[in-house]
Amino acid sequence: MAKAIVVYYSRSGNTREMADMIAKAMNDAGLKTECKSVDKVKADDLPTYDAIVIGSPTYYGQMASPIKAIIDDLVSRHGTLNGKVGGAFSSAANIGGGNETTLMGIIEAMLIAGMIVQGDPQGDHYGPVSIGKPDERVGQQCIRRGQRIAELTKKIASEQPNSRNKY
Ligand SMILES: Cc1cc2nc3c(=O)[nH]c(=O)nc-3n(C[C@H](O)[C@H](O)[C@H](O)COP(=O)(O)O)c2cc1C
Repeated sequence: MAKAIVVYYSRSGNTREMADMIAKAMNDAGLKTECKSVDKVKADDLPTYDAIVIGSPTYYGQMASPIKAIIDDLVSRHGTLNGKVGGAFSSAANIGGGNETTLMGIIEAMLIAGMIVQGDPQGDHYGPVSIGKPDERVGQQCIRRGQRIAELTKKIASEQPNSRNKY
């Protein structure tokens, strides 16, 4: 059965709140999903999941260093995330503060790893973003994104159960 993980870094709780909402939506949509702070996750764990969703506060327009560190740790396992579903989310302090550049940094790494990242034509296009503490709009975006990732992951896992890790 397909399973997923939401991995996040959060100092003051904003990104963690988003992670909790996304993971709940994924579980509610029928995809078994764990939600863990990045310090509780090893790069070795990641290839065991069918979907990996990564959240970071925006630091200087980029992902925070603990998130970059686990991505960099994947290099010795390069190729093992090929065909898995990815997603990203971020929290920043300011509109125009770099949320979307942070998302693109995470998504670029996912694409290099061979992962599948679905955009959203109606919701937050690259992934849910929050300015400070998540408000109702952010909550709706987190639920929407969690549902979409769960649906895509279940579909891919059921159609290609043996080919996810092949080049
Ligand atoms: C080192 C550092 C760098 C930051 N850089 C930015 C930034 O470039 N743009 C921005 O809007 N907010 C920036 N912030 C603010 C955080 O992104 C924001 O407070 C976020 O909501 C924190 O998420 P958290 O509660 O999950 O820790 C920065 C905060 C820190 C500590």
